[in-house]
Amino acid sequence: LLTSVLRRSTAASTSVRAFTSEAAPERKVAILGAAGGIGQPLSLLMKLNPLVSRLALYDIAGTPGVAADVSHINTRSEVKGYAAEEQLGEALEGSDIVIIPAGVPRKPGMTRDDLFKINAGIVKSLCEAIAKYCPNALVNMISNPVNSTVPIAAEVFKSKGVYDERKLFGVTTLDVVRAKTFYAGKAKVNVADVNVPVIGGHAGITILPLLSQATPKANLSDEDIKALTKRTQDGGTEVVEAKAGKGSATLSMAYAGAVFADACLKGLNGAPDVVECSFVQSTVTELPFFASKVRLGKNGVEEVLGLGPLSDYEQQGLEALKAELKSSIEKGVAFVRSS
Ligand code: NAD
Ligand code: LMR
Repeated sequence: LLTSVLRRSTAASTSVRAFTSEAAPERKVAILGAAGGIGQPLSLLMKLNPLVSRLALYDIAGTPGVAADVSHINTRSEVKGYAAEEQLGEALEGSDIVIIPAGVPRKPGMTRDDLFKINAGIVKSLCEAIAKYCPNALVNMISNPVNSTVPIAAEVFKSKGVYDERKLFGVTTLDVVRAKTFYAGKAKVNVADVNVPVIGGHAGITILPLLSQATPKANLSDEDIKALTKRTQDGGTEVVEAKAGKGSATLSMAYAGAVFADACLKGLNGAPDVVECSFVQSTVTELPFFASKVRLGKNGVEEVLGLGPLSDYEQQGLEALKAELKSSIEKGVAFVRSS
């Protein structure tokens, strides 16, 4: 994404404008929580994306500065900042994609589920506004715990009569980004060539990288596979501990969020064979939501792809994650139904 933007920005600015506005349809992207640790670099990356024509940056604090700053970048999209709750409707209206990194991050010693108390309410009220102002938008949910916030969003949309399961995504791209990086390091292959599907959910053991399907193939020992699996599952905690109280992954998450939103935009625009892993409504297991490879198209999810062949170790991991994932999903559903 960044490489293609930078390559394009070396061309004369007039031809950049002509190319981007003629080649790509108008697309509005809204970021809710745009002034936060993820929100700021994500706003920057979305401003660099030539598929975006309007970028709406919403946060309850600090938006004007971020919006003014990002708006000076000489790329296609027009940027507007929205600072107060009264402006949320205007921020959302006409959006094709809404990305949600609003909410509190972890500190050392916390689980993602410890964020539920605060973030569930934030996500619920933002989704109520989405249901009202842009019910057809694709929603990219970043706020944790993703295993519960996605079911919360689904329940809110159902209660408002606007739920379309093809349009709701839990963003698990950071797990894939990590799995690719760690695998490339261990297998000593070029990271740019690596693919690793990651399935399940987005917390601890619910994150299950399918290293048996990783490409390019490498002869890794069982111990290597176990270590890579554990490092991917604990990737978020590794960053939380390194930041020592100053939050969780922001820069790598912004990158991952931008990659996923770019894939959604390409799908909306009709590009063929756009496949990413995401936590979506699913029938690939008995659980109602599950992360797996998903084909993206003009209406969001075009096809939830199956898991493919699993090794014995992965099969055990799959069985082991189900109880936790089920209870996180049910917690999200119960939160909306009881409120
Ligand atoms: P942060 O505290 O730096 O930023 C959060 C932003 O949300 C703040 O600017 C805050 O003002 C804003 N906010 C709070 N309530 C809001 C509301 N009602 N409406 C709009 N904005 C609101 O946190 P961060 O580091 O950016 O992380 C944000 C969330 O993303 C956390 O829940 C974190 O756990 C999660 N996260 C998810 C992944 C993932 O892989 N899905 C990765 C990293 C972080
Ligand atoms: C991550 O995976 O980095 C995020 O979910 C943030 C966290 O709390 O670990």
